[in-house]
Amino acid sequence: MVTKKIVFSGVQPTGNLHLGNYLGALKNFVLLQKKMECIYCVVDLHAITIFQKPDILHENVLETTASFLATGLNPDKSIIFNQSSVSGHAELAWILNCVSRIGWLNRMTQFKDKAGSDKEKASVGLYIYPNLMAADILLYKATHVPVGADQKQHLELSRDIAQKFNKDFNCNNFFPLPEPLILKNISRIMSLRDGTKKMSKSEESDYSRINLKDTADEINKKIKKAKSDSDSIPGEIKLLENKPEALNLLSIYSELTKNSLEKIITEMAGKEYSFLKAKLTEALIDEITPVGKEIKKLLKDKSHLKKILKKGTEKANILAEENIKNIREKIGLI
Ligand code: AMP
Ligand code: TRP
Repeated sequence: MVTKKIVFSGVQPTGNLHLGNYLGALKNFVLLQKKMECIYCVVDLHAITIFQKPDILHENVLETTASFLATGLNPDKSIIFNQSSVSGHAELAWILNCVSRIGWLNRMTQFKDKAGSDKEKASVGLYIYPNLMAADILLYKATHVPVGADQKQHLELSRDIAQKFNKDFNCNNFFPLPEPLILKNISRIMSLRDGTKKMSKSEESDYSRINLKDTADEINKKIKKAKSDSDSIPGEIKLLENKPEALNLLSIYSELTKNSLEKIITEMAGKEYSFLKAKLTEALIDEITPVGKEIKKLLKDKSHLKKILKKGTEKANILAEENIKNIREKIGLI
């Protein structure tokens, strides 16, 4: 059986998008859009698994949409919409809650990280978040899912859920098993303050990340302050094993300049990190500030952004409704 290739991915509207989102996910979304049918979703229902102030959530949905467009996603090529406006996501999530197993969810490390020390106080939504993510993907029978490395475990769960559904309802290959598309070298961009933690929207210090909306001046200050190493740049990657901050800066530079890490390290061997930082700042300003400016420009016309979401919702709904009809039939729902 030939399965049509369909790409699906989601980004939570929970604040400023940063360099990790951009290099780990968004840039890949844009490349895939040239080759396959793509569906990109602002996952607002995932965002509310942790309390969001309503007016801020509303703004963040529009800002994430603007970020999609500013990085190069084209609403005439890809379907761009917000999750809550297609009711099939919530409906399929309920069905998959009944397929997924408690034991499977108990292994999810993101829940453990996000729930913190008092798990009893976490929302039920946060616990079953991965089932909703599986629903997002399976609702469109997506075959490929571009994400950062932090989502690998959730993708594996989506595959387990798809497999169990196919087996329980005796419908081999009904749901394709979705493949993660995780970029090798930059699947996890680390915090500029602590190279053992991923760069994230939720880390308190803004100096830990480069936001897509940062100005040239902010980028300059953040890279100047970023942790690196007191030794000079070594000539071999393996000498960076215990220097995560230095490795992170070199990897980001290698990605932005499209040169291999080996090449960068050979060229910079023996130089101080201040040399790398100056070059990196320049590369970041070249690549990120035009995106930030475009986001700010797009945010001036909110009705245009809402129109794009509405158009995407209409297209997504057609696909979702057809699949939901078939899924209900498989289960025996009338
Ligand atoms: P989120 O903002 O958590 O919804 O993430 C959106 C996308 O960005 C997902 O595919 C994540 O895996 C990816 N992502 C988030 N943080 C990073 C990071 N520090 N490095 C690489 N990819 C990331
Ligand atoms: N959980 C993902 C994240 O935090 C966002 C997400 C929700 C997603 N649904 C998805 C990613 C479906 C890929 C496919 O980054």
